[in-house]
Amino acid sequence: AAIPKYVTELRIPASMPGLAAGPQRPFDEYVISVRQFRQQVLPPGLPATTVWGYGAPDHPATFGYPACTVEARVDRPVRVTWVNELLDGQGRFLPHLLPVDPTVSWANPGGGDVGRDSRPHFDTAPDWYAGPVPIVTHLHGAHTQDDSDGYPEAWYLPNARDIPDGFARYGSAYASFARSFQERQAVVWQPGSAVFQYPNDQRATTLWYHDHTMGMTRLNVYAGPAGFYLLRGGPADLPPGVLPGPAPDSDDPAGTGPYEIPLLIQDRSFTPDGELRYPAQAEGFGHAGMPGPASDGSSFDHLVFGDTMVVNGRTWPLLTVEPRRYRLRLLNGCNSRFLLLRIASSPTARPASSVLPFWQVGSDGGFLPRPVPQERLLLGSAERIDVVVDFTGVPEGTALYLVNEGPDRGYTGGEPGVDFEVADPQTTGQVLKFLVGRRTGADHSVPPEQLRLPEVTPLGPASRTRQLSLNIRRADLAGRAAVVQLLGTVAPDGSGLPHEFHSPITENPMLGATEIWEFHNFTPDAHLVHIHQVQFQVVGRGRDGGRPPEDPERGFKDTVVVLPGHVTRVKARFDTAGRFTWHCHILEHEDNEMMLPYHVGPMPA
Ligand code: C2O
Ligand code: CU
Repeated sequence: AAIPKYVTELRIPASMPGLAAGPQRPFDEYVISVRQFRQQVLPPGLPATTVWGYGAPDHPATFGYPACTVEARVDRPVRVTWVNELLDGQGRFLPHLLPVDPTVSWANPGGGDVGRDSRPHFDTAPDWYAGPVPIVTHLHGAHTQDDSDGYPEAWYLPNARDIPDGFARYGSAYASFARSFQERQAVVWQPGSAVFQYPNDQRATTLWYHDHTMGMTRLNVYAGPAGFYLLRGGPADLPPGVLPGPAPDSDDPAGTGPYEIPLLIQDRSFTPDGELRYPAQAEGFGHAGMPGPASDGSSFDHLVFGDTMVVNGRTWPLLTVEPRRYRLRLLNGCNSRFLLLRIASSPTARPASSVLPFWQVGSDGGFLPRPVPQERLLLGSAERIDVVVDFTGVPEGTALYLVNEGPDRGYTGGEPGVDFEVADPQTTGQVLKFLVGRRTGADHSVPPEQLRLPEVTPLGPASRTRQLSLNIRRADLAGRAAVVQLLGTVAPDGSGLPHEFHSPITENPMLGATEIWEFHNFTPDAHLVHIHQVQFQVVGRGRDGGRPPEDPERGFKDTVVVLPGHVTRVKARFDTAGRFTWHCHILEHEDNEMMLPYHVGPMPA
């Protein structure tokens, strides 16, 4: 049965409660757990859904999908004890909600050979992993030390009383990280948890936190645990009141708000019982350039799409707005899907025509140099776009729709309806309805066309350029016929040279170096390259990487769309020593080898 649309109001996550501030404590402190619970994701009258989500264990009502928002200040560190509480009421571990394929390179807490054999499919329950679930949280876009970054092999199991003998409680990266923790006297690991610290010494922006466990990120994120982390203040922010603000908006006592709204947009599928559905075997979501069942060697496709749009944990919600300006912090939290968003007057007419522009003011790493009016926005997995939408003058009672003209499959660039078929206008082509209501007070925010944004200081000259590649290989790690995407280097003859996660590390910038990384995409699809630790500048695009970035890419980014056949050049400064990763943020790719470690500064022996 079809899920009715626009019957539930958009849920706006509350602020995550911190621990009481100590008198001398030079940081904000949180305890944040992952738990399993049921939530009404589908409209009332339909079943509730079992999900995972973060929350503060001292405040049980805070557990939600998505999680409460962490409100952080520039230069005020945040320390979080991240707890894995995927436990039942008796303290026993809960198994995964979704089918865990043990044939990719993954956390594999039970060890043994189960991680790699040549069986053709892992599409039936007896083959799935049924043990305790490893978790490690990554704050996406944050500038941190490696031991706080959520390295994929630094996962930890819940502190369950029935962990089977022989199970590793911590990932393989734990030993080295634990040593560096002690040396830095910073943080500690307890059974079932890790303490990570974020200095917040970066530009004000929209970050988000999500799981990053080796070979399981697609499933752990799909199950729900994710939240916003809003970093405010410092010289790269605007004074309060210039942009439409969050509620309660003390700068605008007449307003009720909130007028600043984070939107986590995701696609999900549901079983008839209302539970989350993730394919247990390849169902043939081919890449656009490569139709057909693409991955016959592992149990999951290399792209997975849901048939239902979920915003802030509710399917197709309704947002009643006042005829005034709003700041929307858009985040694509889909596993594989590229979104191409517009504000249209009809939910289903295609091609859609825009009725209101998005005034883009920021991207992943903070504000752009100046506002950019855009009719539509391309948003790939994990990208954030900060926009002002001005509903001033729109008559009360008007309905407007946030529609999606991206494809229901891999993205290759080009024009919707011309170069690719747009998402189903009845389902995944719709995201959110805006219903214009009555204004409750004056709007003192600055009109977007008059905004003066904080300066963007470009990075200095680069000391070297690395040529890196995105590749396709038609065999998986066990040698089975399967399509696997890999990152790598570029060989002297100009071809791509794929590497695997456990290949020797080749990217080893010197501490403090500014480098250009060139991504040569040899695959038929677009990917999303994300580099941990840094905010980079896009410096070149096109077939030869020589085309300068356009206005929406003139700020800082941490995740970049890399088109097929193109060279995408980014520049970054590596100012923190240690072990980090770079990867494709299409989670099905990331989990199946499209991720590599890199190391800043001297490599440990
Ligand atoms: Cu959003 Cu490496 O992750
Ligand atoms: Cu990819």
